[in-house]
Amino acid sequence: MKLCLIGYGNVGYGFIEVLRRHRPWLKERFGFAPKIVAIHDIRRGTILNPDGLDLKIIADAWRNNQNLCELGGSTNAPNALAVIKDSGADVVLELTPTDLRTGEPAAGHIRFALLSGKHVVTTNKGPVALFGKELLVLARKNGVQFRFEGTVMAGTPLFSLVDFTLAVPVQRVRGILNGTTNFILTQMEAGKGYEEALAEAQRLGYAETDPTADVEGFDALAKIVILANMVLDGDLRPSDVSCQGITKLAPPEVQRAPKEGFRWKLVAEARRTKDGVEAKVSPERLPLSDPLAQVGGVLNALTLELDPLGTITVVGPGAGPEVTGHAVLSDLLAIHRGLQ
Ligand SMILES: NC(=O)c1ccc[n+]([C@@H]2O[C@H](COP(=O)([O-])OP(=O)(O)OC[C@H]3O[C@@H](n4cnc5c(N)ncnc54)[C@H](OP(=O)(O)O)[C@@H]3O)[C@@H](O)[C@H]2O)c1
Repeated sequence: MKLCLIGYGNVGYGFIEVLRRHRPWLKERFGFAPKIVAIHDIRRGTILNPDGLDLKIIADAWRNNQNLCELGGSTNAPNALAVIKDSGADVVLELTPTDLRTGEPAAGHIRFALLSGKHVVTTNKGPVALFGKELLVLARKNGVQFRFEGTVMAGTPLFSLVDFTLAVPVQRVRGILNGTTNFILTQMEAGKGYEEALAEAQRLGYAETDPTADVEGFDALAKIVILANMVLDGDLRPSDVSCQGITKLAPPEVQRAPKEGFRWKLVAEARRTKDGVEAKVSPERLPLSDPLAQVGGVLNALTLELDPLGTITVVGPGAGPEVTGHAVLSDLLAIHRGLQ
């Protein structure tokens, strides 16, 4: 399997590190030995090698902030579409930054790759939240796979669980899908004010300098739209979903809740109704007996409801370069198995 990476940031590097560490096991267990034949990044340059790039050299280049062109890569700054076309890759890994308004530039890269008969793996929420179903149809028409495990709960398995393990439809999902807000709420419950908890999240690298997407619930919104459409067969746009973040929660209320047997969480929910699928994001005061109430810090969790199992709750890390790199690897393995 030949891979072309578009976007070589934290997730691209994390993926390469996970692949390097587990390469012998992947080969022995699954006969799986992918090669990276092209990397294109707007900041770090472009490199192509049809025989496969040396993973240690490209990982070292990333750590040392070295431009890929210095390794003998392209100097004439080709664009992503030209690289996808010329790479000879079977699979394109679309790992550019998320834009939840337009889905670009990722959506354009993904459409082009699928139309060119290449499988696509992405961790970018934008194109999946906005155009997920259209892209799945395009993939099917072109006889290839479009996979996006890393878009929700990063490397914690979710879509592969639904795709390969469950034999009945999921009726409802409820989850903590944003680690930053969960961390802030955990800190607030322990006695910190909102601003202080947010500053701590920023200091530890969990929250961006501009935390709006997290604290206003937009990140969780994109993820619940993906789940509503791709797991519950809905047809929602982000604008169809009511969304409230955590900024209006009063710290004394958050601190008092556990003494009364409750805990505040930012909950994203989607469920099937007789008219289709509904979704929302809002802070909820959950009873402590709810498995979601026991999930603290930056962890994510999702409860799935289905007949006859009742509920299943998956808990795990929801961000991080290597954790998300694992999602990429897991999608590649799914494609590898499909090809076999
Ligand atoms: N990091 C995580 O824990 C995590 C978890 C789940 C999902 N994700 C998603 O995974 C994707 C990648 O995340 P990341 O953390 O690796 O982001 P990142 O560190 O910002 O890396 C993205 C890279 O893509 C480059 N880029 C921007 N536009 C490009 C274009 N048109 N063509 C080629 N390269 C381009 C960026 O360059 P510039 O920096 O110059 O723009 C950057 O080097 C994002 O969509 C993110 O939301 C990340």
